[in-house]
Amino acid sequence: MRILFCGDVVGRAGRKVLLQRLPELRSALRLDAVLVNGENAAGGFGITPALCQEFYAAGADLITTGNHVFDQRELVGYSDRDPRLIRPLNMLPGTPGRGSAQVALPDGRRLLVLQVIGRLFMGSYDDPFRALEGELARYPLGASVQAIVVDLHAEATSEKMALGHLADGRASLVAGTHTHVPTADAQILPGGTAFVTDIGMTGDYDSVIGMSKAIAVQRFRTHVPGPRNTPALGDATLCAMFLETDDATGLARRIAPVRLGGRLPPAWPEEA
Ligand SMILES: [Fe+2]
Ligand SMILES: [Fe+2]
Repeated sequence: MRILFCGDVVGRAGRKVLLQRLPELRSALRLDAVLVNGENAAGGFGITPALCQEFYAAGADLITTGNHVFDQRELVGYSDRDPRLIRPLNMLPGTPGRGSAQVALPDGRRLLVLQVIGRLFMGSYDDPFRALEGELARYPLGASVQAIVVDLHAEATSEKMALGHLADGRASLVAGTHTHVPTADAQILPGGTAFVTDIGMTGDYDSVIGMSKAIAVQRFRTHVPGPRNTPALGDATLCAMFLETDDATGLARRIAPVRLGGRLPPAWPEEA
């Protein structure tokens, strides 16, 4: 299976590069499925139902979120009605929405996507290790689903690597989101699971993690709450991971960064 997973889309600049490039990426990389982290799509804070529909129309199959999932209040009711939108599995019981969902390919193959959120520097969530293990136990790789992608929404690189090793051999890809900075450690772990600590954001990198640098710097320098931060509006980089899996085992054959546009050096899979 050939899968593209786009990192956190931040604001208008991130949406623009995603909507412009996704249709051509789908055909150039012969993608079977496209996943997008949309937790910062609406002005940097959450995503709206209308933006979800725009992403689907551009070629996204499933949207993951994160700690910002309910920043736009309309998403509270909507998250139960949209089967292609997920939020972290280990949010507290009673939280609306779902923590995993499947993408059904036209040829019958199925992809399971789930998201867990870390706890280091993140807040009071249930144990992500137990949540991840529980969901992977319900869906043995290669049985009812041919591929499994885990969105690891966490701040600390250590917690992300530990969760990656926990899933090794039981998922196709474990990919970090949330820090908005791409890491250079994309690899296939010994058990056959592809891993990257963070995909990086789809947004303007002349910023502080996608938001206006002037406001962000000012907010760090004093105790006076500054104006509400807004996304940076320059040319954005589309940051994603390309994954190719073996349909028989569900394990990874290849992981490679895809980076297009904006300020970051371009990246493209060899022999795409
Ligand atoms: Fe984010
Ligand atoms: Fe986040």
